[in-house]
Amino acid sequence: MSGAAAPASRPLPLVIVGASYAGTQLADSLRRLGYDAPIIMLGDEAHAPYQRPPLSKGLLNGKSSVESLALKGPDYFREQDIELRLGTRAVALDPGHRTLTLADGSLLPYGELALATGARCRPLPLPGANLAGIYPLRTLDDALALDAALSQAHRACIIGGGFIGLEAAAALTGRGLAVTLVETHPQLLSRSLPTPMARYLEQKQRDNGVDIRLGQGVRQLRGAGGRVTGVELNDGTVLACDLVVLGNGVQPNDELARQAGIACDNGILTDAFGRTDAPHVYAIGDVANTLQPDRPGLPRHLRLESIQAANDGARAAASALAGNPEPYTGAPWFWSDQFALKLQMAGLALPGDETVIRGDRESDRFSVFYLRHGRIAAAHSVNRPGEHMLSRKLIGAAVAATPALLRDETFDLKQLLASG
Ligand code: NAI
Repeated sequence: MSGAAAPASRPLPLVIVGASYAGTQLADSLRRLGYDAPIIMLGDEAHAPYQRPPLSKGLLNGKSSVESLALKGPDYFREQDIELRLGTRAVALDPGHRTLTLADGSLLPYGELALATGARCRPLPLPGANLAGIYPLRTLDDALALDAALSQAHRACIIGGGFIGLEAAAALTGRGLAVTLVETHPQLLSRSLPTPMARYLEQKQRDNGVDIRLGQGVRQLRGAGGRVTGVELNDGTVLACDLVVLGNGVQPNDELARQAGIACDNGILTDAFGRTDAPHVYAIGDVANTLQPDRPGLPRHLRLESIQAANDGARAAASALAGNPEPYTGAPWFWSDQFALKLQMAGLALPGDETVIRGDRESDRFSVFYLRHGRIAAAHSVNRPGEHMLSRKLIGAAVAATPALLRDETFDLKQLLASG
């Protein structure tokens, strides 16, 4: 018997659900590692993967164009043999049969699956929340809708004093609007920053004209003719406005995993490589609650809503999928731009850490270091990018330091790396 051998059939694809940072990084890292199985990336938005930071910054103040936001060039996905299916939503997952059901009812079989479904804005379950003139700020379409509304608006109210709220406050003030920001907690950024740094940012926001109301819940949104006209606080105060931005936080898009019986707790639970408790199913990015390196005082699982966690989590998952698992062991880091301030954060500060200020707060160029058991555990730098980059290394290596050394600006902190 003769005959040519049948062409080898390609293995089932790696399907990535979610076309943002984590999904794109996973596909990119795998191709770099020589992974040659088919890759299909599903995105439920109409846009190819794009950068999010400018949505609350440059896109609103006119410094970034929509075109400049693309995460990858126009030919990237074709060249890398990554099938990008936009406007495509997965609605069910069957890990036993390794299939996804798509919104059009079709079944998509997979060999490996990565859930990179991210997070969505938390609803605001208040009377008036459906009025026109109320804008969430998470996606490119959200930002474009808000941007289009700004030219007609004069007074904005921002609900939520996290990074979205504060960056939106800076951008809208820059666009000439009068801005009031309402935060339920008595402190801004209570989830991410210790009180002194939060107070510093609060003062800077106030100095730039933002009216900040802390410790204030919202009772309802008021309107006339179907459009928002004001925000009523729990104490009865009414803040008149013609536009509202929602910065009241996000929640993980973990429904596919939950419905499939995959363990979830504040997102999808994974090991350090993004592996869930279902075989062949990974979770990465904002939706993943990932096992962290053992760091004193910190929980072992964290769901970090940051680009760094998305990218590094995706790299770790790629290493496992490619057969050579390498966890991310560095410090978490993130940043925020507000007015003339570039705030860069490395590590996670905890109540009880010893706080050391290096530099002069009045000059708006300083770093705050956080010592835990005598070692550098976190650092927040304002307009000191070099010190931030160094602090990531110092935290990653958990170097020991004294407050006196950290405070002494004549001492070169690089020396601490050499001493371990
Ligand atoms: P967030 O969870 O950090 O902050 C939400 C804030 O809204 C909290 O302070 C909360 O107390 C407050 N809040 C909730 N309900 C409220 C209500 N009814 N009235 C008044 N205040 C209320 O989330 P945020 O700022 O919306 O950001 C969403 C996501 O985007 C996060 O993952 C954030 O880390 C990320 N992001 C990161 C940026 C950065 O790293 N520079 C910039 C922008 C967003």
